Amino acid sequence: MRHLLALTIVCAVSLGTAAAQTLSLADRQSSKRYTVQELLADPATRDVTVDDVVYRRTMTYRAIPTAELLKRVAAGDDDYVQARATDNFSIAIPAQLLELATADTEAFVAIESPAAPWPALPRDKERKSAGPFYIVWRTSGAARISSEYWVYKLAALTVTDSPIKRWPALGVEASVPATDPIRRGLDRFVAVCMACHRFKGEGEGTQGPDLGMPMNPVDYFQPEALRKLLRDPRSVRHWPEQKMPAFSADALSDADIDAIVTWLSYKAKHR
Ligand code: HEC
Repeated sequence: MRHLLALTIVCAVSLGTAAAQTLSLADRQSSKRYTVQELLADPATRDVTVDDVVYRRTMTYRAIPTAELLKRVAAGDDDYVQARATDNFSIAIPAQLLELATADTEAFVAIESPAAPWPALPRDKERKSAGPFYIVWRTSGAARISSEYWVYKLAALTVTDSPIKRWPALGVEASVPATDPIRRGLDRFVAVCMACHRFKGEGEGTQGPDLGMPMNPVDYFQPEALRKLLRDPRSVRHWPEQKMPAFSADALSDADIDAIVTWLSYKAKHR
């Protein structure tokens, strides 16, 4: 996923090497920087054990809850937090999700101590670790967190407008919970599909057709065919000029595809 996103969707921001060793935390007015030592010494930092989807095993980290960090900046309920990594990967995560501290879901920034370095990432060409800062998630039960939300080599967290503020036609009602698949589908749609598609005229993508009007794809695709098309359009129909790419399971999990179809269905019912 990360490689695909880095090529297609990420807005490139170059970060100096000096910035790589500090974590920047910013809202619309102010910004702070934390060093590894400052965060390790923070009273809110504690031991956290997670099922790590990047290292693909159980890991225990010294980590500070993102909810705690977000208390130190101004973030509204509808805001997103842009998480930017030193390799220029960048993704917007709903602030509400980063502020959760429930039995099912809690996010942290793990901090790599120079005294106890982490292993190299499984597929990192430079054999670097996920550190020195890394967003990890404690989840259980039905809570599902996109693998891209495990932002390794984290450099900056910046409070920003929700895409829904710019594109209200994509939104879901406030009563839909933060961990509902409808919200995950909306989020995946914004992150992956809006690069090429608009929805009810909103967005900037122009390569592909508008997916909200005149009809929503759930109104004319069988659900199974739509899932197949999202995984690999050529499995449904193909022609020489076809442009929509197939997505590997790494890029878009089955759960992501289900979530996108769930959100599209929700939007088809709530016009
Ligand atoms: C790189 C650009 C690109 C991305 C990313 C992309 N699409 Fe497409 N999509 C297209 C294009 C272009 C078409 C028109 C058919 C073609 O040329 O492949 C299309 C066609 C479709 C269709 C068929 C519409 C119809 O009526 O035939 C659906 C549904 C669709 N896309 C959904 C999605 C969803 C959902 C995502 C996100 C998971 C997505 N697309 C991501 C470019 C893209």
